[in-house]
Amino acid sequence: MKVKFNNLFLQNKPILEDSKKIFVNTFKNSKFVFGSEIDKFEKNFSKILGSNYCVSVANGTDALIIALKCLGVKYGDEVITSAHTWVSTAGAIVAVGAKPIFVDTDKFFSIDPDKIEKKISRKTKAIIPVHLYGQSCDMDKIIKIAKKNNLKIIEDCAQAHLSKYKNKYLGNFGDVGTFSFFPAKNLGSIGDAGAIVCKKKNLYQLLKRYKNHGSIKKNIHETLGINSRMDSIHAAFLNKKIKYLKKFNSRRNKIAKIYYSKLKDNKDIELPHLRIKSKHTFHQYVIKVKKNRDRLIQYLTKKNIEVGIHYPKMVINLKPYKKNINKKEFKNCLKYENLILSLPIHPFLTYKEIFFICKNINNFFKK
Ligand SMILES: Cc1ncc(COP(=O)(O)O)c(C=O)c1O
Repeated sequence: MKVKFNNLFLQNKPILEDSKKIFVNTFKNSKFVFGSEIDKFEKNFSKILGSNYCVSVANGTDALIIALKCLGVKYGDEVITSAHTWVSTAGAIVAVGAKPIFVDTDKFFSIDPDKIEKKISRKTKAIIPVHLYGQSCDMDKIIKIAKKNNLKIIEDCAQAHLSKYKNKYLGNFGDVGTFSFFPAKNLGSIGDAGAIVCKKKNLYQLLKRYKNHGSIKKNIHETLGINSRMDSIHAAFLNKKIKYLKKFNSRRNKIAKIYYSKLKDNKDIELPHLRIKSKHTFHQYVIKVKKNRDRLIQYLTKKNIEVGIHYPKMVINLKPYKKNINKKEFKNCLKYENLILSLPIHPFLTYKEIFFICKNINNFFKK
């Protein structure tokens, strides 16, 4: 048996027939940029999330950059974020001229809220909590800190489509929530795409302008801006695929439950901790392998089971960011760097495959 880490073909297959129509329609009406599919997607996405406004953009990294720009983050400012994230979060901060200030993580792989305050300086303008792997950060504590210190909050929800904290969808807690629809995400398109959601109308108008050269009306450019528009073909595709998001997320949760039950007695691994009053959507199912992680990977690979590491190096260990990092401040995430292992959890994984994965992980440690 060969177990793939992900299967994008099966996740997109329900839209295969419609895809032909989408392409032909786009070709015929020639609305490649803007148009009714974009408007419809922005409505659909804000409706499913319960947000007031949604602005579609070209990808999740631009979503972060545009959000930072429109919230007034500029050269010389500092932005606090997690040391355990995809490199984009840090890259977006640097792209607006600000400095990323990293904070260690907690056992949930989220920014540790108890370590945030000592990193705040006069230059700090915002916090970017990253809801990594599909699980919420401790938003109550983060909101309290942000309010006390007059900081903006940008929730990086690239991996957390329809994840919840206290019964409310992520993206609705901060000033903005940013999303990625990169193909492998829980809601993935057929290429790069992204979105920003927000509550306030004036911020919405700024964001909408900024992603289109500072313009809402043709040839009127009231502010600065860039070109980061979602292609309408992505919007048309996502308008179909969004109907499957809840079903796919609930399948991911079912698979996670099986992992918990089949792996719970294995003392050599630590299973993902679930934050109370939050709803995980398991973009990734990440275990901590307490010993011999690399040998386990080799063993699983030999058994034809694909696994992943998200990410093999913490951002603070990457070349552009590692200068002046005090490693003592990052005890947790630097420990996790050597322990984390992502198991397959795409919605089309079969029971036979899940049992095969669990059996092999358990067998490896019995040897
Ligand atoms: C946590 C996180 N932030 C930001 C992004 C950036 O999204 P994109 O790849 O669409 O630019 C990603 C996607 O990979 C991500 O996982």
